[in-house]
Amino acid sequence: MSDVRAHYDESASSYHEQYDPDLIWRNAEYPANFFRLEKVIRILEDRGVSSVYELGAGEASPIIRIRERLGVDIRASDLSPEMVRLGKENLARHGMDPEWLTLLDVEDDAALGAEAARVGPSDAVIALGVIPHVRDDDAFVAAMAQFVRPGGSLILQFRNAMFSMFTFNRLTKEFILGEIMASVPKTFRDAVEEDLDVRLAVDKPPKREWDKDAPAYDEILARFHNPFELADVVRRHGFDSIEYGWYNFHPTYPMIAGRFDAKEYREAQIALESDDSWRGMFLCSAGMIIARKL
Ligand SMILES: C[S@@+](CC[C@H](N)C(=O)[O-])C[C@H]1O[C@@H](n2cnc3c(N)ncnc32)[C@H](O)[C@@H]1O
Repeated sequence: MSDVRAHYDESASSYHEQYDPDLIWRNAEYPANFFRLEKVIRILEDRGVSSVYELGAGEASPIIRIRERLGVDIRASDLSPEMVRLGKENLARHGMDPEWLTLLDVEDDAALGAEAARVGPSDAVIALGVIPHVRDDDAFVAAMAQFVRPGGSLILQFRNAMFSMFTFNRLTKEFILGEIMASVPKTFRDAVEEDLDVRLAVDKPPKREWDKDAPAYDEILARFHNPFELADVVRRHGFDSIEYGWYNFHPTYPMIAGRFDAKEYREAQIALESDDSWRGMFLCSAGMIIARKL
């Protein structure tokens, strides 16, 4: 957990850049979170929510944009002291109350219960980019449930394990052997492993590194989730009407993306972000579960 905190303390100062519409074309990294936020705003608007709580809210850029666009009440919290410090500044700069953002570790049950009691239930609870960093999915969804009223909405982002079916690399091998073939006898799994080592680019993806004084994203706990299994967790904690929302589309598997003109590739990515079909489950490295509390 201290690694996760250190990672986000270090990324806090540049975090707002991914939500800057002027940088959509110039950012070296694809601004997937910009498109995620646009989808979240549309979902909240369609559902007519008037209050939102965000767990793991970072430096408050998303929640501020949600309030600016929808005029809803917002409350939020985050684990990283630097994110919270900058988030409070960010709120004040936008004429909003810095007290709307507080420091909270969602894995600290006592603090979580106190925060839920303090703010009361909202029309919607959202957690974007947070569940990859926690160990216990059930506890996390139970935590989210404390912040939403019956009939209210949950939006839970996750890193999509199914994307490995389109990457043809080490992640594909791990998903086939560890998940799809989990109950197949070892003799068959060993044979498939040997075969996959020849067919797949098992040396990819490369680990993402950075030159900062804290662990990089690929060095902290950053789990993928199977969308079907995660939907079961959400159901277990009193939600129904489950839907998926997909984002961070890849027009090709990432290992050949470098063969294309960067602008043309990005145009194709952005165009795909409006695809609401089942294809997102395979073309997208991330998704969201949207559900209603019973
Ligand atoms: C990928 S960032 C996303 C920030 C924001 N939700 C957004 O969409 O831009 C993940 C955030 O989750 C926070 N986080 C990670 N583990 C947490 C925990 N146990 N409790 C609360 N926040 C946590 C991190 O500090 C970080 O700010």
